[in-house]
Amino acid sequence: MAQSAEFLVFGATGQQGGAVARALKAKRKKVRAFVRDPESVKSKALAAEGISLAIGDLFDHASINQAMAGIVGVFSVQTSSPAGEVTDAQEVWQGKAIAESALRQGVRHLVYSSGGAAGKGTTGMGHFDSKSEIEAYVRGLPIMSTITRPASFMEMMLLPGMGLPQGEFTFFMRPEQSMQMIAVNDLGRINAEILVAPDHYAGKTIELASASVTGKDLERAFTAAAGRMITYRRFSDDLLAQNSFLNHLCELLDTGLLAGAADIPALDREFGHLTSLEEWLGGPGKSLFEAALVDDTAEVALR
Ligand SMILES: NC(=O)c1ccc[n+]([C@@H]2O[C@H](COP(=O)([O-])OP(=O)(O)OC[C@H]3O[C@@H](n4cnc5c(N)ncnc54)[C@H](OP(=O)(O)O)[C@@H]3O)[C@@H](O)[C@H]2O)c1
Repeated sequence: MAQSAEFLVFGATGQQGGAVARALKAKRKKVRAFVRDPESVKSKALAAEGISLAIGDLFDHASINQAMAGIVGVFSVQTSSPAGEVTDAQEVWQGKAIAESALRQGVRHLVYSSGGAAGKGTTGMGHFDSKSEIEAYVRGLPIMSTITRPASFMEMMLLPGMGLPQGEFTFFMRPEQSMQMIAVNDLGRINAEILVAPDHYAGKTIELASASVTGKDLERAFTAAAGRMITYRRFSDDLLAQNSFLNHLCELLDTGLLAGAADIPALDREFGHLTSLEEWLGGPGKSLFEAALVDDTAEVALR
């Protein structure tokens, strides 16, 4: 692929897009980031790293079309309903709008970042079923496309309220039950690799994960990283009775659908070393983890 080929990354001020844009940049590729506010701290950080900015909004079709001009490869990601910013229908609208625009503007290859629970039948959870719908739409278009399905992000464990300052950690899995997770850095690296090799990856759907982790694994790794005992338990029955969203996620984990279907050794061989939980805690997750140990009520600055 020519050195001058340019890639367009959506959500570049967020976790996934930020990691993909930076991984492409590390490959010395030209990167254009689709941003809402060029004056935001995160947009300015991208610009300072040599990433050009295309200003637009995912609700504005014309701005998406404009941003596609001269682009060879697109990374598509949308926010989803649990974040509260969009409805499931809006997520679908945005995902389809990007794909349709890529086709119309002559983009060669589209990478759609879906989710681990997508494409395996109806889940009854809007933000998973929305991704299955976008996947089907993308596959129905006459454009080269690759679908990546990331597992739960390791970074998500450091969302507020998991109990670390009190010496405990609560999450989805039972102590002996495993769930696949991915470090956002790995997600960025792998999607970048896919973007620069469209002939190799187009048509494939790739489940992404860095590690398979049980509750007991979390207890061991968190205890070692904190230097004090961190007891693991699954979300309490009381919490699950009150919170149907978390309850449904736990049920999907129990049925295996959310456990993750990535072939981690194969990914490791193909894309290079993947980040283990311990490596993540000692590296990209270290400062987030240390902050959450002291105060896990604040919104963490995930990138
Ligand atoms: N968390 C997990 O474990 C996990 C696992 C698998 C899949 N997922 C999926 O990942 C997706 C979220 O990815 P993420 O965590 O990277 O998102 P994120 O960090 O929340 O970032 C969202 C990005 O989208 C941009 N954005 C939002 N609305 C926009 C609009 N109307 N126009 C233009 N840009 C807009 C934001 O820009 P601003 O800076 O302007 O706000 C930001 O760059 C969701 O669909 C979720 O279901 C999550």
